[in-house]
Amino acid sequence: MNFNFPVDSLNQLQTPFYFYDMALLNATLDSVKKEAGSYGFKVHYAVKANANDRILSTIKDAGFGADCVSGNEVKKALETGFGASGVVFAGVGKADWEINLGLDNDIACFNVESIPELEIINELAEKKGKVAKVALRINPNVNANTHHYITTGLEENKFGINQWDLENVIDALAKLKNVELEGLHFHIGSQITDLMSFKDLCLRVNELQKWFISHQICPKVVNVGGGLGIDYEQPDSSSIPDFKSFFKLFDELLELKPGQELHFELGRSMVGQCGALLSKVLYVKNGVNTKFAIVDAGMSDLIRPALYQAYHKIENLTSNKPSAKYDVVGPICESSDCFGKAVDLPETGRGDLIAIRSAGAYGEIMANRYNLRELPLAYYSDEI
Ligand code: LLP
Repeated sequence: MNFNFPVDSLNQLQTPFYFYDMALLNATLDSVKKEAGSYGFKVHYAVKANANDRILSTIKDAGFGADCVSGNEVKKALETGFGASGVVFAGVGKADWEINLGLDNDIACFNVESIPELEIINELAEKKGKVAKVALRINPNVNANTHHYITTGLEENKFGINQWDLENVIDALAKLKNVELEGLHFHIGSQITDLMSFKDLCLRVNELQKWFISHQICPKVVNVGGGLGIDYEQPDSSSIPDFKSFFKLFDELLELKPGQELHFELGRSMVGQCGALLSKVLYVKNGVNTKFAIVDAGMSDLIRPALYQAYHKIENLTSNKPSAKYDVVGPICESSDCFGKAVDLPETGRGDLIAIRSAGAYGEIMANRYNLRELPLAYYSDEI
């Protein structure tokens, strides 16, 4: 299924804005549901990828849970209608008010990243006369082979409990009466396109499970996080990620114990391809080596190229004249405000409508007001 741009309608709208193809979103969600469902796996959507109201409520309606990383994400998920039993709360630095919010709402699970955090959750739960369900986020020390800014499962990263600390965690759990071990949690990184990294994760999880079982512990849930990547180079030929192979790999390689549930926290792969950032060309000017197409969207609207040198495919939806090369840049006062260098585009001029593709994940949600710009608006294929 391809992303559909209703160019005439889009041309009427004030740019820049995010545009979401809701049919593609629904088709993607159907695919996740079908493939995960065929093995009985449960998926929590990683709210951090895109917390836009319409996107979030569509995902809620499709029956997914919510993986949250802040008190406000927990609040938003509950307000959107995700039931508390489908809300999990992760993050290395949960503040007391955020933990209390989770406790007051009886969320499904806190993914705990350190012993001091476990102690505080226990203390706050005790004050409320509650028992908090927790999963231990264990750093599996698996290399996700992705951009080093978004790799999270190595010992040198700040995330999770390192394996040398596990004996201490078990001792702590035995003493702390207001936390109950519900699961083991892992996440190795994001935008992972080589499934072999997930294979390494499965093998590590199997080893760790053996270790826990040798200590008479068999948690109900194994949560292997998210991280499945999308094809930024060819957003149309693979607009729906290969969820079939992804879930099959876990089914084949992960040794679940009887009664154990397998959970996932997918963000990018569920929403990445259904969004695009739409922008218009303000000016074209000649540089020393190249032409600049200066567009009205900037790094404040989509920060990924500036922050991670991320590639996003850029298309001119107006022109089909013979092609030339352009540096596509925004209006912000930073040289890094560049969406692509030497991009092959049809001959481009003022007023042309430009689409920056694969921007549904970590796009709108990471927008900011640098240079006092307005936050980008959002439109939906079924509303225009
Ligand atoms: N679970 C945990 C514990 C995570 O830290 C993340 C993402 C996810 C799940 C969802 O991962 P996904 O399926 O979306 O790969 N802003 C960056 C990505 C940061 C990802 C942070 N953690 C970007 O634009 O590439």
